Amino acid sequence: MSRTIIVSNRLPTKVQRSAEGLTFQPSEGGLATGLGSIYKADGNVWVGWPGLFVEDPNEQAQVAERLQADSMAPVFLTEAEIRDYYEGFSNSTLWPTFHYFTQFATYEDAHWQAYVAANEKFCQAVLALAGPDDTIWVHDYQLLLLPEMLRRARPEATIGFFLHIPFPSYELIRVLPWGAALLNGMLGADLIGFHTFGYMRHFLSAVSHMVGYSNQNGIVETPTRSVLVDAFPMGIDYQRYAEAAVSAEAEAHQRTYRAAMRGVRVVLSIDRLDYTKGIAQRLRAFEQLLVRHPEWSGQVSLLMVVVPSRDQVAQYQELKVEIDELVGRINAQHSTITWNPIHYFYRSFPFEELAGLYRLADVALVTPMRDGMNLVAKEFVACKTNQRGVLILSERAGAARELSDALLINPTDLNQLVEAMHEALHMPEDEQIAHMASMQALVRQYDVFAWTNLFMERLAYSKIKQQTMSTD
Ligand code: F6P
Repeated sequence: MSRTIIVSNRLPTKVQRSAEGLTFQPSEGGLATGLGSIYKADGNVWVGWPGLFVEDPNEQAQVAERLQADSMAPVFLTEAEIRDYYEGFSNSTLWPTFHYFTQFATYEDAHWQAYVAANEKFCQAVLALAGPDDTIWVHDYQLLLLPEMLRRARPEATIGFFLHIPFPSYELIRVLPWGAALLNGMLGADLIGFHTFGYMRHFLSAVSHMVGYSNQNGIVETPTRSVLVDAFPMGIDYQRYAEAAVSAEAEAHQRTYRAAMRGVRVVLSIDRLDYTKGIAQRLRAFEQLLVRHPEWSGQVSLLMVVVPSRDQVAQYQELKVEIDELVGRINAQHSTITWNPIHYFYRSFPFEELAGLYRLADVALVTPMRDGMNLVAKEFVACKTNQRGVLILSERAGAARELSDALLINPTDLNQLVEAMHEALHMPEDEQIAHMASMQALVRQYDVFAWTNLFMERLAYSKIKQQTMSTD
């Protein structure tokens, strides 16, 4: 039977160590939540890191057994690999570069070596599992070399690759000493997918400048194969969110929050802790809203959920301090005995509670400086079953290409962000409904199942095309 082997750095389940032993929780992040709904069908398997350093072979066996029961196969990373491949090359070189934060990027040869070795480790794990008829679907920037490694081992394999973060301008890729090697790594796939046409164009331009392969209508001709490149804006499991939003549990959470914030409008912000998300900028804008439009004082609160992430990387630690200080300062300056301007949570929330928060919010602030797609924007839309609520969305999130009915802002423009919040809080209900209804229709139709089907259809097509070309 042919299956799909999904490969990503992080598994959709993360293992944590607690006083009671190992615990298994859903992972955070767009990839895990987005694909979490689909991978279990048809004997598919998900290969990836369970998010924890596990050294003891007995513990490794225990983790592997537990994950296997849920169709996952763990790749255990050593402490050195976590430091140099994950925190190092993936999150201190590629992540800042691909999000246009080159001032944060480091260029360490040791990190590059670790990245190559870790991609090789993932390659061996996939080869041990995949049969000749299986489709291999590689995900994201941590594994850019993997498609080519797999191709060398299995020249006939069907390999898809999808990038979940932006692909930046060629001008940034050329800064990387390993730029051409990374592009060649991706070109091992039969189909390379991006969230937007913009990212796809950047990739094609980088390939033509740095590897010398031209393309026609998104088909890159390498000396041995044709590689199809296309845009596939990722969707969410719409139904799951829409149903969760009206569940008794979500309703109970909403009631509890509402009772605690009686008579106050709610602006919601939910992100992983990341400098690309514009969290500090958002706090400054919220403060400005209170200063410039004092009528909102006591009338509106910012409910800010920041999910811990990559806390061993320096910039993430610094950002955490900055956010803590901003929240402390704004609350100290503006709060009253009966009103708290910012409710700040530094932790992840269970799914139903999250749905309750989406349901509660009058306004969602999704204002990243850069974001491949941003599924939070789509989750908010799916949970607004009564169609009341306003989405303020950064024009630099991939989601802005589709959700043009949101209030689109430039996240660097603080004034625009302040006025967008003011406008959103004043927006008449009929206008809210009109915008929300049109966004919902889109998010419902292009959900994660449609996204997967489209990608798989194109992957099958690319394979057929290659076969017909080789027999011509
Ligand atoms: O979407 C980008 C991404 O890096 C995913 O690959 C990952 O699942 C998510 O963000 C969370 O990041 P991390 O795995 O580093 O916690």
